[in-house]
Amino acid sequence: MNKERKLIIAGNWKMNKTAAEALALVNGLKLELANVKEADIVVCPPFTALEAVSKAVLDSNLRLGAQNMSEHNFGAYTGEVCAGMLKEFSVRYVILGHSERRQYQKEPDALIASKAKAVHGAALKPIVCVGETLAEREGNRTEAVLEKQLRGSLAGLSADLAVETIIAYEPVWAIGTGKTATTQQAQSAHAFIRGVLAQLFEDATARKIRIQYGGSVKANNAKELMSQPDVDGALVGGASLEVRSFADIIKNSI
Ligand code: PGA
Repeated sequence: MNKERKLIIAGNWKMNKTAAEALALVNGLKLELANVKEADIVVCPPFTALEAVSKAVLDSNLRLGAQNMSEHNFGAYTGEVCAGMLKEFSVRYVILGHSERRQYQKEPDALIASKAKAVHGAALKPIVCVGETLAEREGNRTEAVLEKQLRGSLAGLSADLAVETIIAYEPVWAIGTGKTATTQQAQSAHAFIRGVLAQLFEDATARKIRIQYGGSVKANNAKELMSQPDVDGALVGGASLEVRSFADIIKNSI
């Protein structure tokens, strides 16, 4: 598939996989995906598996991501993990503001913006998640919610750093539910997001920013989703936990 922007497909393993299980998964992916050059492939294991997975991806085309990061660089923040600790394991990407963290840890947009600043400060790339709930969609508030999340989470970002940022559009009602947004719903949200990015930065910058779709992406719907002009990749949860399903998503997307 010939796209304006290089596809980026990331697996968000969430709170799954011990280090040993993670190693088995990543070794399987390495074998299956060794020849893929058309897409950036990222795996995001839990913190406890980063070390094992980082060694395994060292000589491969797979890149490593983390699922969260502190906005602070060091200090008395019990249970938190900072950029320097992630860089030790060659982490390149950090998922920020996932809807599960927005919901369960009550992460507000301003905190996500601080974290994005810290991620860029360490020359890592944030994957900033936005998305509406079912009630918001049914109340015709999707665009207002997306615009508020984007403006808040990207506050203070320069255009130079904006192009090093990945946005993930993840409708909350589609995450882990088996309900995928239709290709039209995805494309229309992505086009809207790109429009907001053009307002925040400028057109040329907005055209360079990659926007992933996330929410029940599977091998059988990946191709159609990726064929949309403003869909530049996927953030995959459940289907990234097995070699076959994640590898098939990538092969069907390119
Ligand atoms: P899902 O999760 O693919 O299991 O719906 C996506 C995500 O939360 O990133």
